[in-house]
Amino acid sequence: MADGAVNLTIDGMPVSAPPGTLLIEAAKQAGVLVPHYCYHPGLPVAGLCRMCLVEVEKAPKLQIACATPVAEGMVVHTQSAQAKSARMGVLELLLINHPLDCPICDQAGECELQDFTFQEGRPATRYSPDYAKRFNPVEDFGPDVLYVPNRCILCTRCVRFMEDVTKEPVLNVSERGDRAYIGIHPEARLDHPWAGNVVDLCPVGSLLSKDFLHKARAWELDKTASVCTGCSQGCNVTLDTRDNVVVRVRPRPNLLVNRYFICDHGRMNYRWMNRGDRIEAPLVKRGGGELQAVDWDEALERTAGVLRGAGGRAVTLASPRMSTEALFLARELCAGLDWTGAVQIVMGEEAPLAGVPNLALRPERAPNGTGAELLGYGRDYAAALQAAESAAVVVVLDEPEVTIRTSGALIYLGYGRDYAAALQAAESAAVVVVLDEPEVTIRTSGALIYLGTVLPEGARNADVVLPIANVAEEEGTFVNRDGRVQRYFQAKPAPGMARPAWWVLAELLRTLGRGESLAEAGAAFDRLARSVERFAGLSYASIGAVGAKP
Ligand code: SF4
Ligand code: SF4
Ligand code: FES
Repeated sequence: MADGAVNLTIDGMPVSAPPGTLLIEAAKQAGVLVPHYCYHPGLPVAGLCRMCLVEVEKAPKLQIACATPVAEGMVVHTQSAQAKSARMGVLELLLINHPLDCPICDQAGECELQDFTFQEGRPATRYSPDYAKRFNPVEDFGPDVLYVPNRCILCTRCVRFMEDVTKEPVLNVSERGDRAYIGIHPEARLDHPWAGNVVDLCPVGSLLSKDFLHKARAWELDKTASVCTGCSQGCNVTLDTRDNVVVRVRPRPNLLVNRYFICDHGRMNYRWMNRGDRIEAPLVKRGGGELQAVDWDEALERTAGVLRGAGGRAVTLASPRMSTEALFLARELCAGLDWTGAVQIVMGEEAPLAGVPNLALRPERAPNGTGAELLGYGRDYAAALQAAESAAVVVVLDEPEVTIRTSGALIYLGYGRDYAAALQAAESAAVVVVLDEPEVTIRTSGALIYLGTVLPEGARNADVVLPIANVAEEEGTFVNRDGRVQRYFQAKPAPGMARPAWWVLAELLRTLGRGESLAEAGAAFDRLARSVERFAGLSYASIGAVGAKP
């Protein structure tokens, strides 16, 4: 037992918890989930649904586990006949007016009302089939939130979130008794930048996301732990995929980064992961100028041939949306050269979540600017562009709407933005590497090597095209603004022969005789941690699911 801890027994299991711990949380230590609706660990306690009633020996009546702190020697029974009967009664009352909507409700399959009714509700109703259930029409609460009052169990999680977490109290409980419903201020909309969290918080299908409406049933979804790419906060998320298409992004709890929440910008930032116009095989230019599909060996050999013998100055222009591993290996590609690296980051407005310290949609709308910085990439993009003018090698990692002129070779991987000046500078480079730019126009009198997810019209004159995976199709790490290294996992397969950028770059290095093949992202990260002091002491395994700081 821990020092200073309170010792008690829950369902016969000894439990030790810090003073002040609520019974509902202490029970989790004993592997017991006490049924509950109004309680949520990220919200102030309300104690109003009475679904968490448990028996505490020597107490005169049942206690609510969400508002009762642990006490020394307490003996708690969550499964006693008295406790179960009381909870069965609570469920019966909640179901009086609840419609039989499960077949058409988005929450079905992940609904706490379904789950607890199945677990300990009455097998059948005692109400007459002629009883007319309460009916209220669906309301449009905001840009992405619908309210279905008939399904509401009035737990007030949504009201408390808006009041205590966003500090924008636009929701309330209107009317009283069996007429009560969740009301919204007549002149307000649920359009706070973090408002979408009410959909996740609602334990039933009363608050729905318009974006996800009727897209999938819960049991059809595969869930993958990932990290939001929307800004430098690095919120932990779950990617929900149906038939290998990302259909929903939800928060994944991480008390050190985003607690239980994500902002609406991050929630909607997934459609690009499903682009269908992808490069599916390595392509090389044949004699007639046509691009022809080849295997990876031939494509890598051709690429290495372009890189061999390059000398002098090298510039890497990188997207801050590339994995730490790809940024590291792209730097390694220029080892031995006079190297300059820079990232260009799109900026926006900050949108804090007032009730949670150190949580905001950050102005830096990219997930890995800090990772790039730790690896030696600077933020003085203009200077890097200038340096590129006299460079022997220019590596561009991920930039859209780019036009690249170079007398050298161009290697392209990634996504992009406004690289006009860099492109001009690249005209005098011997080699240009671009990491994925879908709207790129590239003119070069030298060799052009293109690594990307999609092939822009302007890159169709490339000598070699190497297809890479996007963030939903690979494993890797990002470093958030606080220096926390966080892993994201593969949610769906990459199309055709596309491979993660870290694999492509590692194979290029191997072909150039500068390193071994890497079989997995973890090996790429561990190579990085061994080589870069700022990552010393970290290993891919030790980062785990919630991240770690070097
Ligand atoms: S809408 Fe959902 S979260 Fe809000 S009170 Fe009703 S059941 Fe609870
Ligand atoms: S705050 Fe940033 S990282 Fe978090 S969900 Fe929003 S965009 Fe994504
Ligand atoms: S969860 Fe305890 S009263 Fe609602």
